[in-house]
Amino acid sequence: MLTGGAGITPAMSMLRYLYDMRATENEVIFIHSARTPDDIIFRDETLLMSKQSHTKVHYVCAQHAEPGMENGFLSKEILQRIVPDIHDSTILTCGPTPYMDAVKSMLNEIGVDMNNYHEESFGDPSKRFNPGGATPKTLDLGCSESTTKSDSPRFHEDNATSEIPDLAADTEDCTVRFSISNQTLTYSPQETLLQVATRAGIAVATNCQMGLCGTCKAKCTAGNVVMDTTEGLTDEDMSNGYVLTCVGRANGLIDLEL
Ligand code: FES
Repeated sequence: MLTGGAGITPAMSMLRYLYDMRATENEVIFIHSARTPDDIIFRDETLLMSKQSHTKVHYVCAQHAEPGMENGFLSKEILQRIVPDIHDSTILTCGPTPYMDAVKSMLNEIGVDMNNYHEESFGDPSKRFNPGGATPKTLDLGCSESTTKSDSPRFHEDNATSEIPDLAADTEDCTVRFSISNQTLTYSPQETLLQVATRAGIAVATNCQMGLCGTCKAKCTAGNVVMDTTEGLTDEDMSNGYVLTCVGRANGLIDLEL
């Protein structure tokens, strides 16, 4: 199994099934790519599995790799070293589109029979906003900055299946100010921040567009944002004022660092 970022989610379902049911005698090699060790989701659980089952776990971290982890990005050299019998393996992949494209390219170069390759994606990319998952130069994906408590926006988390809340009725207040792009747009109550940004021609890095992966997060420096879910945000993100643009809607006038 090869996963990147939030792509670990469907793999975990399979790993848990295999682990709980002792469902295979085959060796399972799980290679997960993340930005840093702190970004590895389910790290404790996957390590536990690796100690007590046929599952071998490897992590590839783009930054700050710890001893025992691969530093940098997944490569065909890493793949062939960790999975020497890759030509005889079934390969399951899930991750951001660029990650899965890179994996397919590596496997083709290695000469793997792609009939053995299977991938899971978060739906049809062509039906999403920013289908290529564009990464704007202006978007700081880090969380290094902090805001004072009074600067932090207020958050409301609503169940994704609940009705969209009644947002600000005053049209004059229905405005998003994009501070980096220096643009100000009015919005309709149903529009997500990602939709408003897309209308403004502002590229936002995205992946799942379901509030799970955190790729689309942006910092809200003033105003209220209502999110269907905050799954893709850490507590630190929340306290630093980050919001998920793909599932976030402005409530009144807001300032967004995009
Ligand atoms: S794109 Fe994944 S949380 Fe928004």
